[in-house]
Amino acid sequence: MRLEDILYTQGFGTRRVCAGLVQQGWVTVNGAAVTDPGTDFDTDGLRFTVQGVDWEYHAQAYLMLHKPAGTECSQKPSTYPSIYTLLPSPLRLRPNKGAVQGVQAIGRLDQDTTGLLLLTDDGQFIHRMGSPRHHVPKVYEVTTRHAVDASQVARLVAGVVLDDDPKPVRAAACEQTGETRLSLTLTEGKYHQVKRMLAAVGNRVEALHRSRIGDLVLPPALAPGQWRWLSGDEVEALRAPRPRQVA
Ligand code: URA
Repeated sequence: MRLEDILYTQGFGTRRVCAGLVQQGWVTVNGAAVTDPGTDFDTDGLRFTVQGVDWEYHAQAYLMLHKPAGTECSQKPSTYPSIYTLLPSPLRLRPNKGAVQGVQAIGRLDQDTTGLLLLTDDGQFIHRMGSPRHHVPKVYEVTTRHAVDASQVARLVAGVVLDDDPKPVRAAACEQTGETRLSLTLTEGKYHQVKRMLAAVGNRVEALHRSRIGDLVLPPALAPGQWRWLSGDEVEALRAPRPRQVA
């Protein structure tokens, strides 16, 4: 692929801007500046720098972010900074079918929830991961205001009724990990689900952290606010069909 097209697909601006970046000597490939925007490169595993910043070519972007507290999963936040400000601008400006679209969060976490958030520019992947039929388990570490008791755990697993739907929602797993701590696994993603489930059993969420999605665990080395690319294997594991949940 031509270098200016490579930069364009990765979100570095219009084709004209990308050609200009190359002509000005701001792009290096394999350690050397390339000044002809038409130079062809094999994109497989291609690494390059733009204005001194290292970049990797990805035909589609799949990444994980350690969402910090006090951030909103919205492009147009109302009160707190958007999570999208934590990403480098090319990830926010990647074109999709000619329009600037950038990566999108797969589902949302509340502003005060921390932990693992996935983002991608692959619309089908967002659809699949969000589909209730795909049943991707998500693990939440919950800190509660009041001491947890065994009956609360039992009710969370048996199912509780929330105010917007008579059909009970249940935790796929729930383990008490401390006097005021639970590890809760959900396969759905209703609005404020963990907080509403805990309220339904007479407790209250003080802090909420998502530690896992499917087999993907938030790496301890990824500090709040940091992101990294997902590997091909990680994406395939998330895409893989899952056994149906027992009703
Ligand atoms: N459940 C909640 O209540 N909040 C979140 O952010 C995620 C799940």
